[in-house]
Amino acid sequence: MLYVVVLGVPGAGKGTQAKRLSAALGLPHVSSGDLFREHIQNGTPLGIEAQRHIDRGQLVPDEATIGMVRGRLERPDAASGAILDGFPRTIPQADALEAIAKDFDATVGPAFHIRVPLERLVDRMAGRRVCREAGHVYHLAYNPPKQAGVCDVDGSELVQREDDQPETVRNRVQVYEKLTAPLVAFYRSRGVLQEVNGDQPMGAVTAEILAILGQEAAR
Ligand code: AP5
Ligand code: MG
Repeated sequence: MLYVVVLGVPGAGKGTQAKRLSAALGLPHVSSGDLFREHIQNGTPLGIEAQRHIDRGQLVPDEATIGMVRGRLERPDAASGAILDGFPRTIPQADALEAIAKDFDATVGPAFHIRVPLERLVDRMAGRRVCREAGHVYHLAYNPPKQAGVCDVDGSELVQREDDQPETVRNRVQVYEKLTAPLVAFYRSRGVLQEVNGDQPMGAVTAEILAILGQEAAR
């Protein structure tokens, strides 16, 4: 049982790659950001709390985040593992994941660090569109929908994410540098870090990750 971790700055392509890996490996895609957005859409108490932080580009407190992700990993579809996108995001969350893995007899890693130069992110965020219904992700230039403004999967309207405003993106990147970047050293010290070049077409990034997973499996 494997928890594959996907790390990277906002807009690096974590969600895009996690979705593709989920399909290739048959493990569920567990995105803490998506889980929070579901809570917000459903108006739950956690959603109301999370929204205050997300709208400012700040992290949701660790305790609430860890409880939510643990609950998700307890569901039967995660019995063989999961692709974790956006969690862990702080050292306490990484420690909590080790504890969860111990409880479920799972291994943490590989941890893929998708590296993208900061100057690419403005373009990635500005062009991102997500569907209102289920958050399916597009990019106006790099991954456009078949019909402008309409989700290919469920036909709902495509909109911009609230937290993709330039000012909020700046905060998110700063928070990443301060609280999440240390996880790269954390996973390197455990011998499970894998650096991936995220500054290439989406399919090439996926191929790079799958090649590493293939090598690991053969070891
Ligand atoms: P979250 O939703 O996780 O946002 P994020 O980390 O800021 O990352 P993004 O979803 O913006 O980017 P991504 O790396 O997934 O890129 P994507 O694949 O979409 O979190 C949102 C908020 O929730 C946080 O700010 C925080 O408040 C809260 N939160 C979440 N998890 C938390 C936690 N663990 N603890 C506390 N708080 C938490 O790609 C971006 C765009 O680029 C898309 O349009 C895509 O089509 C395009 N694209 C992707 N790859 C490529 C490529 N190779 N070439 C060209 N375009 C590409
Ligand atoms: Mg994402």
